[in-house]
Amino acid sequence: MPRTRPSRDLAAPVVVVGSGIAGLSFALKATRHAPVLLLTKKNAAESNTNYAQGGIACVTSAEDSYELHVRDTLEAGAGLCREDVVRQVVQEGPARVAELIELGVRFSEREEGGGGPDLGKEGGHTKRRVLHAGDITGRELERALLSAVRSHPRITIRENMVAIDLITTKKLRRKGPNRVVGLYALDAGRHQVEAVAASAVVLATGGCGKCYLYTTNPPIATGDGVAMAYRAGVPVMNLEFVQFHPTCLFHPAAQTFLISEALRGEGAVVVNAAGEDFTRKTDPRGSLAPRDIVARAMDEEMKESGAACVYLDIRSRGSEFLEQRFPEITGTLRKLGIDPARQPIPVVPAAHYQCGGVQAKLNGRTSLPGLLALGEVACTGLHGANRLASNSLLEALVMAHEAAEKLPTLIEGSTGVEKLPDWKEGKAHDADELVVITHNWREIRQLMWDYVGIARTNKRLQRAKSRLGLLLQEVQGFYWDFRVTPDLLELRNLALCSALIVESALRRHESRGLNANADYPEISKTAKDTVIRAGEI
Ligand code: FAD
Ligand code: SIN
Repeated sequence: MPRTRPSRDLAAPVVVVGSGIAGLSFALKATRHAPVLLLTKKNAAESNTNYAQGGIACVTSAEDSYELHVRDTLEAGAGLCREDVVRQVVQEGPARVAELIELGVRFSEREEGGGGPDLGKEGGHTKRRVLHAGDITGRELERALLSAVRSHPRITIRENMVAIDLITTKKLRRKGPNRVVGLYALDAGRHQVEAVAASAVVLATGGCGKCYLYTTNPPIATGDGVAMAYRAGVPVMNLEFVQFHPTCLFHPAAQTFLISEALRGEGAVVVNAAGEDFTRKTDPRGSLAPRDIVARAMDEEMKESGAACVYLDIRSRGSEFLEQRFPEITGTLRKLGIDPARQPIPVVPAAHYQCGGVQAKLNGRTSLPGLLALGEVACTGLHGANRLASNSLLEALVMAHEAAEKLPTLIEGSTGVEKLPDWKEGKAHDADELVVITHNWREIRQLMWDYVGIARTNKRLQRAKSRLGLLLQEVQGFYWDFRVTPDLLELRNLALCSALIVESALRRHESRGLNANADYPEISKTAKDTVIRAGEI
């Protein structure tokens, strides 16, 4: 492995980390105030955003209302949503979606009834309100946003740059109030760590699905933003609420492939091997209940019967409809030898979305001056204990807008971009056995799946906590001793993020939303956030 070289100076008033919907839409709007440097750790399209299928929940139909969207979000969130945040996100939705259309995003249109957007339906929604681009909504969003960002004269994109840690005045032992002044990032192509100076750093790094063995998330989702913010002293909130999507394809050749909830909106039903619609036993909404409820019913069914999967049955809609409405899903399934028009699709729940995150206001403001967190990395109170389907793309858009609007006040107190100390490699040497990194990575994902999944107990959580304690120490040792690589940096973040999830779950003495703990089966009368502050784990 080549040695890391000394760093060059990189600087911009605003540095954005992440090129999903949150980072890209913020960057475009922030250019009104300042030039933007956007760092992203792989090629720019690689993000959770790129894989979104169902679409963006937004009130656009005369049969719908803000009040209904608010009510559905609060109901799914199991009493933990912040109602003011929910209202603002829902009410800003139509304006933000109109901007996307202006930018060139092509949503699917209805053919009959005078046109207008074709609206999908998903679990927990009482109305059709999900705008979509077929079943590749995320790819369409990334296409349009990236093309605007790439051609923008005030935005510089740097791919293959892995943000490592935030640089604060406190870390530099400077006098005065603490604030962010930049970050260190590994240029993975040149094997060089760069000090990147900034007046404002915007974390738009997405979620942490990769903490789990089975996930719908792509490899970038390693919880880097949560870990970086926590290491910089910023509180994290409600991380126990990891959302498991009920219908991830169960197939050895396509382990992370999602079968959109929009199929259930079009009549698909979750059934067992005998064809029974078992989800109705726990909720009259059956397959269209919110995700926490459906995923739990599936988990119980699979444990009781010993089956490795259950099935999603959409045979009632026939080939023509499936090919037209869900071309990507239908095509992918057929390539794998599954014809959804003729046979039920084998599915299992898999880790999908991080409802908690860096504690932040809707405008991205965190407790650390100069640091903003936007999109899935942030926890604003919108999702409460369980996110309503298709609300996360909407939240990211609203947050990006609010943050860009308030950028001048959000970066008040900055003394401008300054020279930062170079990265110190010390006596670090190349890792002689990369197998230890892959082994630890696998171990964390397996133990999170086994002990911190859909159904939790105190004993399992304690077991996970003690193992993660050892792993954290070991990984920290690698971090000091070895030259940093993308894999090592991700492992370090994955370990910390997993430990934060476990600690949050241990602190919640109730079963609410996505946190089902057999030792505390009841829901408390008062809903409280779980906040973990610097140094608490
Ligand atoms: P992301 O889109 O995940 O982007 C994060 C970016 O940060 C990436 O570019 C990544 O490379 C970069 N990054 C991460 N760490 C670093 C680092 N250390 N240094 C540099 N760069 C870094 N939500 C909906 O509302 N509707 C849907 O239909 C929907 N479908 C989904 C389907 C799938 C399969 C998945 C996985 C998620 C889906 N979601 C959906 C959730 C939604 O896609 C995400 O919550 C949302 O896209 C997150 O956007 P983001 O910009 O916050 O993060
Ligand atoms: C899906 O299409 O089922 C994903 C929607 C979401 O996660 O919001």
